[in-house]
Amino acid sequence: MNIPLKSIESSTGDTFSPGLEGVVAAQTVLSHVDGAAGRLVLRGYQLEQLSGWSFEAVLSLLWRDLAPENLDEAGIRKRLGAAREVAFERMVAALPALDGLSQVEALRLLLSRLPDVEKESHHVVAVASTSVFAAAIARRDRGLEPVRPDASLGHAADFLRMLHGAEQRADKVRALETYLVTVADHGLNASTFATRVIASTQAGLFSSVIGGLCALKGPLHGGAPGPVLDMLDAIGTEGDVRPWLAAALDRGERLMGFGHRIYRVRDPRADALKQAVASLRDNGGRIDFAEKVEVEALALLAERKPLRPLQTNVEFYTALVLEAVGFPRESFTNVFASGRMAGWTAHVLEQDKVGRLIRPQSRYVGPMPA
Ligand code: COA
Repeated sequence: MNIPLKSIESSTGDTFSPGLEGVVAAQTVLSHVDGAAGRLVLRGYQLEQLSGWSFEAVLSLLWRDLAPENLDEAGIRKRLGAAREVAFERMVAALPALDGLSQVEALRLLLSRLPDVEKESHHVVAVASTSVFAAAIARRDRGLEPVRPDASLGHAADFLRMLHGAEQRADKVRALETYLVTVADHGLNASTFATRVIASTQAGLFSSVIGGLCALKGPLHGGAPGPVLDMLDAIGTEGDVRPWLAAALDRGERLMGFGHRIYRVRDPRADALKQAVASLRDNGGRIDFAEKVEVEALALLAERKPLRPLQTNVEFYTALVLEAVGFPRESFTNVFASGRMAGWTAHVLEQDKVGRLIRPQSRYVGPMPA
């Protein structure tokens, strides 16, 4: 059965936009995606200005005047550390229930055990728990026991430590921290919108962010970085870079990690992550190879689609950063969720302040009763 996607003229004069494109569905102080200028702004700071900030500092920025209490970077670091310890204790008994689930399904299950009644610090608990759970789930997939958090460490450092079982090099921690900061918030993307819709019903913060995770899980949203590595692997084993890319385009395929719905110029997040991987070149030549692929891909796309500016997107360098710091590709969506939880929680807090149920309308295009 066909549901019309094109707008059909309505007798009542209402408007319909497929995919809600161009519809402004919220006002926010949190972030602004300027696709024409290739600019991402988080509460008054351009993404480039946040380079070198800790994840805790960005949380402090996003939660400011929205959370019940304003905490600075040090205060958030302390509270996150304590919350990671609680999350670990809660999680252990539930681990056997994860058998047979994908990593993102396992994260969904663990988050769903958090009670919505813990209102005061639920935003802190959500961020802390997501990384504890994501690290334990990744280890479990490899048959390894979970690693207890170290509350004295920064959040990114402890996330990597919980993944590997030992503290990691400062440049790797820095790269993961840059990733978490880079993906912290990004306008009214699908998962953030889903989160806000649920928050607007006053269902509670955990219920809201689990809705966000469910939206992120889809391949059109958070599931893309894995295929970038699949493409790099295929080019590496099957032949030279340019002929491989040209053949893929000849077959009508898309080059993974290029193009974006909103950014018509460079994706500023790709630049931030490109800088973050620059120091991790000991990754078996992967980064040098990927840069060669990027140059050839951009040249070919410019030749083949001269009217369509197709640039490197965030997923290309996400794949390289997360692989270089040791996450398996099956974990990538959960690591994305660990960073985006910053934005989801801030949007829930903001939506709570707005206090208005989100309830759009649909246009009935079915038959009317005789
Ligand atoms: N490789 C090759 N061609 C591409 C392309 C890519 N990565 N991205 C877009 N194009 C081409 C399309 O084939 C289309 O060509 P046509 O007009 O000749 O048919 C044109 O550019 C417009 O494509 P469209 O699907 O309308 O672009 P979009 O802006 O809606 O799509 C993406 C955005 C991200 C879905 C798309 O660029 C894509 O599929 N990229 C690859 C997957 C990826 O990297 N995803 C992560 C996104 S962050």
